[in-house]
Amino acid sequence: MAQLVAPHEPCGVEAEGLIYRYGDGRAALDGFSVKIEPGERVGFIGPSGAGKSTFLLHLNGILKPAGGVVRIGGQEVASANLREIRSKVGIVFQNPDDQLFTPTVGEDVAFGPRNLGCSEEETAERVRIALSEMRLEGYEHRSTHELSVGEKRRAALATVLAMRPQVIAFDEPFANLDPGMVEQLVGLIRNLRATVLLISQEILPAIASVDRLAVVHKGRIEAIGPALEIARDRALLQRCGIDFHVFGPVWQQLLNGAL
Ligand SMILES: Nc1ncnc2c1ncn2[C@@H]1O[C@H](COP(=O)(O)OP(=O)(O)OP(=O)(O)O)[C@@H](O)[C@H]1O
Ligand SMILES: [Mg+2]
Repeated sequence: MAQLVAPHEPCGVEAEGLIYRYGDGRAALDGFSVKIEPGERVGFIGPSGAGKSTFLLHLNGILKPAGGVVRIGGQEVASANLREIRSKVGIVFQNPDDQLFTPTVGEDVAFGPRNLGCSEEETAERVRIALSEMRLEGYEHRSTHELSVGEKRRAALATVLAMRPQVIAFDEPFANLDPGMVEQLVGLIRNLRATVLLISQEILPAIASVDRLAVVHKGRIEAIGPALEIARDRALLQRCGIDFHVFGPVWQQLLNGAL
């Protein structure tokens, strides 16, 4: 098939000393630094309000930092190169309603590839594949407003997957998905030919999806390391208010058949 847009290699992501303040002046990011290698998958966990989504919105210049810098493949994110940066970085927003803006699912998913210069033939093929990956076959002509919350989230994921970006940042992609769909998405994320940033409060799918895990606390990275090592550090999790180990006994009972 003729392809106007050649597949790209994943590229690295670097944030250095990001500072960001919303209107009330409090720092939502307060010296946020992280370095992610090309093709690496990094998860971000942390309590509500820690600054995770705020960080993500800096990756393609939706928010501009009051201090610090973001580099995508070594290139600094700046007003002058936003178009190029946005062709490299796809963000799946926390709220799917922020992603879907045309009347039908098919049009929403086609928008990105078309905008990148794909032929109609390639656009149609990308739409077909992305909808199939999100188990949305037959949804092309459905109105996005009439979908269930989980279906909307899958449609929002499909719009970004169809663009095949070098960097994909997911903000709570597992929310509202049923277990079968979560399993499918974990497999898909593990096989993506892209650098992946994944924000998730759903710890098990997050651990299953990523290589490294970062704990975000009070606008900066509190710790980063191999996913299981971080997830086992209960003192760290307690300090940051995300101690999911409290559910350990329930899992134990479940696995022992005692429930
Ligand atoms: N549009 C906004 N205007 C003002 N303050 C905001 C805005 N968005 C976020 N904040 C504040 O910035 C801080 C960081 O918010 P952010 O959305 O980045 O957190 P988060 O880690 O993504 O949380 P959650 O897990 O709940 O999504 C919070 O204190 C939040 O109240
Ligand atoms: Mg958030």
